[in-house]
Amino acid sequence: MHKKLTGRWLLTMVSLLVAVAGAHAQTARLPNVTILATGGTIAGTGATSTTTVGYTAATVGVQQLIQAVPELAKVANVKGEQVFQIASESMTNEHWLTLGKRVNALLAQNDVDGIVITHGTDTMEETAYFLDLVVKSRKPVVLVGAMRPSTALSADGPINLYNAALVAGSQEAVGKGVLIALNDQIHAARDVTKTNTSTPDSFKTPELGLLGYIQGGKPFFYRASTRKHTADSEFDIANLSALPQVDIVYGYANMNTVALDAFVAAGAKGIIHAGVGDGSLAAKVKPGLVAARKKGTIIVRASRVGQGILARNGEANDDELDFVAADTLSPQKARILLMLALTKTTNTKDIQRMFYTY
Ligand code: DGL
Repeated sequence: MHKKLTGRWLLTMVSLLVAVAGAHAQTARLPNVTILATGGTIAGTGATSTTTVGYTAATVGVQQLIQAVPELAKVANVKGEQVFQIASESMTNEHWLTLGKRVNALLAQNDVDGIVITHGTDTMEETAYFLDLVVKSRKPVVLVGAMRPSTALSADGPINLYNAALVAGSQEAVGKGVLIALNDQIHAARDVTKTNTSTPDSFKTPELGLLGYIQGGKPFFYRASTRKHTADSEFDIANLSALPQVDIVYGYANMNTVALDAFVAAGAKGIIHAGVGDGSLAAKVKPGLVAARKKGTIIVRASRVGQGILARNGEANDDELDFVAADTLSPQKARILLMLALTKTTNTKDIQRMFYTY
């Protein structure tokens, strides 16, 4: 009897020790972060150390970007993949589909805890929002770039990359949706925008606000998005080889319908009207939009203003015109949501629901 108790006690103690060691190893294990490089200024080079405009984007490879920041190895087990090497003004729907599918494949792997995407800043907010709608995981996805090329004095790329890897490997960023991290700040993909052509503090979420900061090697979140994203999204690109064509018509005083008519004639399935003010329709343009709608083109009323709610039935009778209101999405992000909406429906009531959901 005594021997049996001793044996059972020993077995219990050994099991406990193994469990504690395993837990410790788990917490002590660095997160596995994959860096997907696409190009941009973070990978750019200038003729001199003071060249901060007029440099060449998308010239430095992902391994070189990683080697330039040896501190990365202290915060994550990092692997690099060169997905593209382009300036982001040249990003296409095809690039987005390739990138989104690669992100989903990687995040489905148990040995990947988070992803960093290095990207040009010109269209970073658009790629981020596209991924916010199609990534099928709650794991962190963090887009990062730089406003100064890698060769510049006080280049911002290395610290931005280090911070992005910290966020991508953190528990705090799980479930927060796709993020943009630059200049020690963390922004939600849906609401962030580039606000300055050249300064390192260019990315802002003007009225709805950033989500948090990176400080002292840690991310600090103070807010979260109230809209659906990533794992809760109804959109799926797994079997898509193309996205419906959606174009943006920019509003201004004395505008005409030349661009609108050309887009519709070229087969656009949707038009984003980036109107003045609260999405107002110029008298000379409204008939062209009504005619396009009658041909089956989906019309979304957005605003060029940048902040505020684009109110349904505000500056136009959307119910009567069968138009969709963009809510608070910028024209460039409304285009992304409409493209994905059109992969599922052409019903304007359902599309309007999507604009109030994401
Ligand atoms: N050509 C721009 C781009 O790739 C450079 C801007 C940048 O990356 O900061 O987006």
